[in-house]
Formats: sequence, C-alpha cells, structure tokens
Amino acid sequence: MSRCGATLRSKPRRSKRIGIEFLNRGEDKTSLMKIFLDTADIDEISFAVSAGVIDGVTTNPSLIKQAVEKRGGSIDMEEYIEKILSVTPGPVSLEVISVSYEKMVEEARLLHNRFRRYGQVVIKIPVCSSLNGVDNVYDGLRTIRRLASEDIPVNATLVMSPEQAILAAKAGASYVSPFAGRIDDYLRDKIGMKRGKDYQKSDYYDFNLMWRIESLNIDRVLSSKNLSSPKDVYLDNEVREAASKLNDNGVYSGVELVRSIVTIFRNYGFKSQIIASSIRNARQVREMAEIGVDIVTIPFYVLKDMLIHHKTIEGINDFVKDVVEPYRKIFTK
Ligand code: E4P
Repeated sequence: MSRCGATLRSKPRRSKRIGIEFLNRGEDKTSLMKIFLDTADIDEISFAVSAGVIDGVTTNPSLIKQAVEKRGGSIDMEEYIEKILSVTPGPVSLEVISVSYEKMVEEARLLHNRFRRYGQVVIKIPVCSSLNGVDNVYDGLRTIRRLASEDIPVNATLVMSPEQAILAAKAGASYVSPFAGRIDDYLRDKIGMKRGKDYQKSDYYDFNLMWRIESLNIDRVLSSKNLSSPKDVYLDNEVREAASKLNDNGVYSGVELVRSIVTIFRNYGFKSQIIASSIRNARQVREMAEIGVDIVTIPFYVLKDMLIHHKTIEGINDFVKDVVEPYRKIFTK
C-alpha cells in the first residue's frame, strides 16, 4: 500500500513485539512505545538486543563514522550493515549521503535494494536537504514523496519544527524524527550557555525553570519602563526580545517540540510514526513516554541511565549483606 499523502489511521495499531515497552496514547491502550537504539555500533546493538529492550536502530553518517573509527578505520561496510540488519529485530534507518533529489532517490533505492533481504531497511532523508537555505530546499520533501510512492519506507530526519513534521508527514514519510536534544542545545546556546562548560551533552534541560525565568525577565523589563498601553507593551523591542529569547519560534524545548508534533498528528490522524530523536538522558525518555510518542531512539549510554538509580544500588547492597546462612543454604543444596 502506498504511503503517499496524508493517510488516516483507520484502526488502532497493535505492536506484535513483546519486551519492555510502555503503554501510550491515552485513549488507545493497544499502542506501545518502542525503543530504538541510536547507534551504528554492532556491539552495542547486539548487547541491547540480548537484553530484550530494543525494537529497532537508527544510524546516521556521524554514527557510522564513530563505529568505523572505533574499529581503526578498517571495516567492510556492506558486510557490517548486513550484520546490523540481521541482529536487529525491527527497522534499521540508513541515511543517504547526497542533497539533491535525483541522487537521494538513487541512493535510497540502492540502499533499499542492497540490504532489504537482511532486515527492515528504512531510508533516512533530511526533511530539508539545503546546505544554504536557498538550493535544494524542496529536494528532501520531493524525495520522500517519490520513495513513498515506490513503497520504500522513509524516516524524515533533522526535523527541528512542527511545521517541518507536518510537511514530512504529508509527503508520505513513514517516520518523522524530531531532534529534541539539538533544540535544547540551541536554546541554551541562545542565552550564551556553552556545551562542555556550562552544561554537558547528557544534562537534562529544565524548560519549566526557563519558563519561569522568561516570565521574570519580562516582568523586569516592564518594571524598568513606563509603558502605559497594551499596544506599547506588545510593540516594545526589549519586551519582545525578552519574550523570544528562551524559545525557538514558540518551541520551548525538545520535549515541547515532540509534544506539539504528537498533538498535531493526533488532531489529523497522520499515519507517520514519530521517533523522538537526539535523546540525551533518561528523563527525556520519561517525558517522551508521558507525551505518548510512538518511538524513542536513544544512545547506548541512555539505556544505562534509565536503569541505574542510587537507591536501587543501595538496596541491592543491603539485600546481599543481609542474606542469612539458613536462607543461603537453600541455594547450595
Ligand atoms: C536520529 O535519528 C539521530 O541519529 C540522532 O538522534 C541524533 O542525535 P544527536 O543530536 O545526539 O547527534
């Protein structure tokens, strides 16, 4: 069935997989949140699969570069991708490397034809593949449309706004990937915070705190001025700056970006699945699950981040210490 155009969800989707998944979508208890691993490292993928928690994999050229470098640069890439597909129990996203419509279509067909016999190949296409905001602006969308009409599943990547997500879904993307962590990075950059100095990549971005700071900033500007009418307040440059500094065109965080897309897709029954991407910590995963996103794709370290809690470690230490001899004997017979 072609995925072209804005198709409607006709009946509730049901996951056939078992494993650690979360109920989502409030009204539709049959949908489960899936977890993809955001890596091209076969060791990480195999380990996570053996723990039974992974439903798919997302890669990109930067992740493939890391995997290649980890292996000293020598890698038979085709064989390596075959292995990734063979061990992964669900979709594996592979990205094209060009930015023009013709080349992206060609590369997508090549990847799909070459690897589909090893697993579920999904082709990652940038929602907008322009390198300068002028050329190739529509090539991503046109490529998505073309591939969808050929039944090649597409993951629209580098989605940074709800508007881009709407266009990707309308073009027929099977998956849409909003990059939550990169939006949080951008919002911190906007107020002069430097990654590595003021915050680390894996730090949670507290957008609730930022909301409060924004409203305090606006109050501060207002109290320093004598603006009498709502019109003067609305048009005042300093007020406007204070009101726009902590958000990206109304998006206050990566989590809020995903929340907006989930709401819009639900409003209209868009069939594209949303992959919350660029996830940096466990708390983001929790918040994405609360929103009811279809899928989160997480780096390997976030899996551990989701599992470790100091009180669990304290508890297991106490239990291990408290094992009394008569109880131990049961296990030594
Ligand atoms: C998604 O598919 C991307 O591979 C990924 O989530 C990007 O994450 P990053 O912003 O941490 O590089």
